[in-house]
Amino acid sequence: MAEKRDVLERLLARLAHEIRNPLSSLDIHVQLLEEDLGELAPETRRQLTSRLEIIHGELHRLESIVSHFLKLAGPSELDLEPVDFLKVVAHVCELLRPEAAAREIEIATSLPEPLPVFSADKVRLTQALMNLVINAMQAVERKGRIEVGARMLGDTLSVTVRDNGPGIAPDKATSIFEPYFTTKAEGSGLGLWIAQQIVTAHGGRLRGENAPGGGAIFTMTLPVKREG
Ligand SMILES: Nc1ncnc2c1ncn2[C@@H]1O[C@H](COP(=O)(O)OP(=O)(O)O)[C@@H](O)[C@H]1O
Ligand SMILES: [Mg+2]
Repeated sequence: MAEKRDVLERLLARLAHEIRNPLSSLDIHVQLLEEDLGELAPETRRQLTSRLEIIHGELHRLESIVSHFLKLAGPSELDLEPVDFLKVVAHVCELLRPEAAAREIEIATSLPEPLPVFSADKVRLTQALMNLVINAMQAVERKGRIEVGARMLGDTLSVTVRDNGPGIAPDKATSIFEPYFTTKAEGSGLGLWIAQQIVTAHGGRLRGENAPGGGAIFTMTLPVKREG
């Protein structure tokens, strides 16, 4: 299964690269055409200029889709350093609390014990947790509560983000980790997918389910090799 996904990812990255070359060649030729327009009669020039502008714009859009995609599909090497996950939680909460407060959402933490420092990619783990808490805030919308918890279960760090929003619709549960799957008008559908990629790259797992008392709960588990 993991192997199959690996092959697919490499194939997609290759496809993106291959699309990029003709795209940049097209871009150059459109620019040359724009220069050639100067020699035409004003009326024809005006008409053709607006068409070329559309082509130019669309080319840029394609280019940004491809580079965005490459960033996602590209090999994501982890930048490992000793990480104190309590600091990651504190940082994410600090970043999101002002927005939460404005919407009367309480972000509480449940961190019963000091956690071992372990080797991980702090920037990416921060991003993963942030994506989960942002989703929780969007699910709650206004007036609610989010709880971020972290604790050790044997050699595994278990991190939970729980909200009291509407929960995950049962018919959507299998799709939410798919790239570009979103139920939001302005959603990218990439938050959970990226978070899952990050957690998986650390040898961990990310899952989401509905909490017994209502709302959703996302759990990420990370294997912890204790430092020293
Ligand atoms: N805390 C949550 N409660 C309910 N549904 C959620 C929650 N988090 C994610 N989802 C569902 O998963 C979908 C995908 O999430 P995500 O990948 O972050 O993309 P986006 O947030 O852009 O929609 C969301 O559109 C939503 O339907
Ligand atoms: Mg999201």
